[in-house]
Amino acid sequence: MRHNRELRAVNELAEALTLGKGVEAVIATALARITTLMDADVGFIYLLDGEDQSLKLKASQGIFSPDLEIAMANLSKPGNPLQCVLETGRAIAIGDVRKSPQPLTELAPFLMQAGIISWACAPLKMEGEVIGVYHLGAYKAREYNSHDLVLLEVIGNVVGTSLSNARLLVELRHKEGELRRALRRAVELQEEERKRLARELHDEIGQALTSILIQLKSLSEETNVPHINERINDLRALTSQTIEELRRLAMDLRPAALDNLGIIPALHWYVKQCAERTGLDIQFLAPERHERLSPEIELTLYRVAQEGVNNAIRHGKAQKIVVLLERDLRSSLVRLTVSDNGVGFDAAALDRGLGLVGIRERVELLRGSLQIEAAPGAGTHLSVEIPLKR
Ligand SMILES: Nc1ncnc2c1ncn2[C@@H]1O[C@H](COP(=O)(O)OP(=O)(O)OP(=O)(O)O)[C@@H](O)[C@H]1O
Ligand SMILES: [Mg+2]
Repeated sequence: MRHNRELRAVNELAEALTLGKGVEAVIATALARITTLMDADVGFIYLLDGEDQSLKLKASQGIFSPDLEIAMANLSKPGNPLQCVLETGRAIAIGDVRKSPQPLTELAPFLMQAGIISWACAPLKMEGEVIGVYHLGAYKAREYNSHDLVLLEVIGNVVGTSLSNARLLVELRHKEGELRRALRRAVELQEEERKRLARELHDEIGQALTSILIQLKSLSEETNVPHINERINDLRALTSQTIEELRRLAMDLRPAALDNLGIIPALHWYVKQCAERTGLDIQFLAPERHERLSPEIELTLYRVAQEGVNNAIRHGKAQKIVVLLERDLRSSLVRLTVSDNGVGFDAAALDRGLGLVGIRERVELLRGSLQIEAAPGAGTHLSVEIPLKR
């Protein structure tokens, strides 16, 4: 019965320390549970910490008197009598410090002064390595047998493992945050650069070409020589075509309509321009009235549509592509879907290209999600959802 009770208690301890708690919370919960479980009056958790890897007090339970403080300071000094716990990784326990043999003789006066009669110390271990110790003290004598020592060690393993998990989790979250910040910055820089390039192409080079076009026109009006006129007209056609190409390139990089008018006019223009260029049936469906969304969301939606339509044309060999923008007022999110009737692909085995991976990252930066429904021969259905509330 006792065995079962202890097993249950250790199990409960492990459950109470499940992942998701911070390091401090794990330490505090562990100590509170252990002192109750082992029927102790005071308890302390020390971890090896800092550059010198010395024992530092992390939590205490029970009444902490000045005398006890002195006793504890002595217990945790380097070369203390409990050093053997750190070195051997085994628990030690003294049922009655008044009759205590080695190694506690030196500490007995301190402990007794604080009213502590029985004492135990066990290692906190993680993957076999001692990362700290915990102490338990009681104001009355008690019997500690070898079974109790094993129990103390098992508890130390459970707590040590939970602690190291909690630390790893903190580290992981920190790294994750750093990565996300770096990614956001990279995306911002890329978009800024695209915007700058688009403006320069449109304003500088576009202006220059337009003035060439005007001058060619007046030149052609000034001459009557047929073969010169013909060549000037060829040049005019070529220049017009180049302006058109340039405008398309600039718009692809960053359409001014997106910043000035918003996602819906920008996508209307984009889809129309793709349909004209490819001769495919490409449609854009959106609500008639639509408020502007945040620039970040509009830009991301635009990039998703670009990637989706480009993929459908390039890889899907689709004949029909539908881009659909919806706003779900109830759950306060915006959804963009790109569907095509092309060859499809095995979305689970996606390993080429950066387009879809990049889109997923960008959507997740806005706490949104991306879904791909595709199968060989069955077309592709790309959908992203982005929450509107910050
Ligand atoms: N609409 C689609 N129809 C068919 N296959 C697709 C479609 N979208 C994506 N794929 C497949 O998924 C792969 C990965 O797409 P992704 O956009 O990530 O990369 P990519 O288009 O190959 O390269 P990048 O976008 O970096 O220029 C494609 O190479 C293609 O095989
Ligand atoms: Mg792509």
